[in-house]
Amino acid sequence: MKTILLIGIGSGNPEQITIQAINALNRAKVFFVLDKGYANDDLLRLRKDICERYITGDDYRLLQVSDPSREDDPHSYQQGVARWHEQRAALFQRLIIDEVEAGQTAAFLVWGEPTLYDSTLRVFELILDKSSQIFDYQVIPGISSVQALAAQHRIPLNRIGEPIHITTGRRLALEHNAALENTIVMLDAHCTFERFLNQGLHIYWGAYLGTPDEILIAGPLDEVCEQIKNARAKARQEKGWIMDTYLLRNDM
Ligand SMILES: C[S@@+](CC[C@H](N)C(=O)[O-])C[C@H]1O[C@@H](n2cnc3c(N)ncnc32)[C@H](O)[C@@H]1O
Repeated sequence: MKTILLIGIGSGNPEQITIQAINALNRAKVFFVLDKGYANDDLLRLRKDICERYITGDDYRLLQVSDPSREDDPHSYQQGVARWHEQRAALFQRLIIDEVEAGQTAAFLVWGEPTLYDSTLRVFELILDKSSQIFDYQVIPGISSVQALAAQHRIPLNRIGEPIHITTGRRLALEHNAALENTIVMLDAHCTFERFLNQGLHIYWGAYLGTPDEILIAGPLDEVCEQIKNARAKARQEKGWIMDTYLLRNDM
């Protein structure tokens, strides 16, 4: 039986990796590194750095593979994503069949925490639904960008006894009447926080968390909204890509 490890590698800081992940890195002999076609290859470089830094031997292979790009379906977001997952499942299945020998261990390095807004596990479920069990797989947790955001701002994610809501920019845009109590927003390409001005909210925003390019801005949303928008647009233009996350909550 082949074994596939889905290893959470943290969200930018190579020191934010667990001992379980380091041990897993040292078990794998083949690493699949998905090239998402970013103009600049910072994210690929971090994955390679992690392998070089933590793997003690040199008897492993790094296989860089082009990730299928996601085509938006103008009629249904869900269908667009489902089609993309099917393409990824076909790719992953082929890689596991062709590149991993019987009895061997291989790994996918997953950004942040593999169970949080990441499709790798869903893609694995698709592969196993369609084929007889040709491999076993394990998930190694990682430090998510949510934890990195809270640590860098030195804040607890919730105040005493309050709940935490994690959502996407796309969903937040539909929730503009909701009372925002500890709402963490990921995958927001459109500065959706701007819709929530004049509601007494505070924002804790972070981009490129854990990397040398990290940007942190916090304050009353009405006061820092423009500053965040400008910093975001400038950084995105200079680097060619951006990943940012933020926490919104009402002022007490
Ligand atoms: C596909 S999700 C992956 C989330 C990842 N599994 C995690 O645990 O953080 C990508 C989103 O995560 C957030 N993200 C990931 N890394 C980040 C970083 N270094 N700085 C800020 N946000 C980050 C951004 O909201 C980005 O749009």
